[in-house]
Amino acid sequence: METESPRTGEVLGDRYRVEERVGSGLEGEVFRATDLALGFTVALKVSRSSKLKVVRRLYDEARILSVLRHDAIVRLHESGKLPDGRAYLSLEWIAGCTLETYLSSGRLDEGQMLALGYRLASALVEIHEQRFLHRDLKPTNILLASRAPEGATIHRAKLVDFGVAGILGESVTRHGLQTRGNRWSGTPLYMAPEQLRGWRQTPATDIYLLGAVMYQSVYSHAPHCDGGELVSFKLQGAEKVFDLTIVPERLEAELALPSSPNLSTATQAVLLRMLRQDPEERFGNASELCEAIEGARQEVAG
Ligand SMILES: Nc1ncnc2c1ncn2[C@@H]1O[C@H](COP(=O)(O)OP(=O)(O)O)[C@@H](O)[C@H]1O
Ligand SMILES: [Mg+2]
Repeated sequence: METESPRTGEVLGDRYRVEERVGSGLEGEVFRATDLALGFTVALKVSRSSKLKVVRRLYDEARILSVLRHDAIVRLHESGKLPDGRAYLSLEWIAGCTLETYLSSGRLDEGQMLALGYRLASALVEIHEQRFLHRDLKPTNILLASRAPEGATIHRAKLVDFGVAGILGESVTRHGLQTRGNRWSGTPLYMAPEQLRGWRQTPATDIYLLGAVMYQSVYSHAPHCDGGELVSFKLQGAEKVFDLTIVPERLEAELALPSSPNLSTATQAVLLRMLRQDPEERFGNASELCEAIEGARQEVAG
């Protein structure tokens, strides 16, 4: 059953007072809310309907978050059902901004990009060790916590949105796009080639997605194309998507352009390997990736 969107001031489930809507997706909404039982601010992710399929998806997200423990992964306080049947997650409130907002006013330098990459790669180690895949790393799903006096910083980046996360080893081919009638809406720009093609996804998929985020944070556009052509395309016309895939030679040439940010060869090599079209050619796992990023950081430092 579709239900009305919660209003500011409304108390949900006798416990959560809605303060402000901060995010809105097809199946759910995110609010800043006050937990009246404990007296602190939380992020409340509420499903838009009480339909079993939608409720289950939010519970899957809760199950995954409940076992993950890492400073760069949002913490789950609790989850449950509202009296009208909608599901909710009560999450650690991250005051700050999304990486997308942060990047809209400037790029990261090489050192910052590597620091961000290292932090998120170590979150991937935890996620993959617990046998999950995130599958939806992109700038709107990375929050930068803000604390006085520095404000939002990449050193406090946190990964959110395990809404399309999967379990490792299951034949995970479900894509990260949501369907609206026969149209896909979403961000193929941030998808790995194997996701676009509906092939098996592995930890290498998350490594690719992180590579795309790192690339974008220094170049201001996703690695696929220069124009940033965002897409809503017909399911049947899925071949179109392949226009968005990366041609490694082009990427290599771009990294070497004099107009490009001056990245060290070690950093370029890390990015190119993360963004290989063939998952087998990327880093073997997130721990190897951490080591490679650390190596590049040392080279840059010195
Ligand atoms: N824990 C949180 N603290 C603060 N803001 C959050 C939090 N979780 C999500 N948000 C905000 O809500 C938006 C949507 O949340 P997300 O979990 O990505 O849901 P969706 O599935 O709709 O993309 C995020 O991009 C972010 O701006
Ligand atoms: Mg999201």
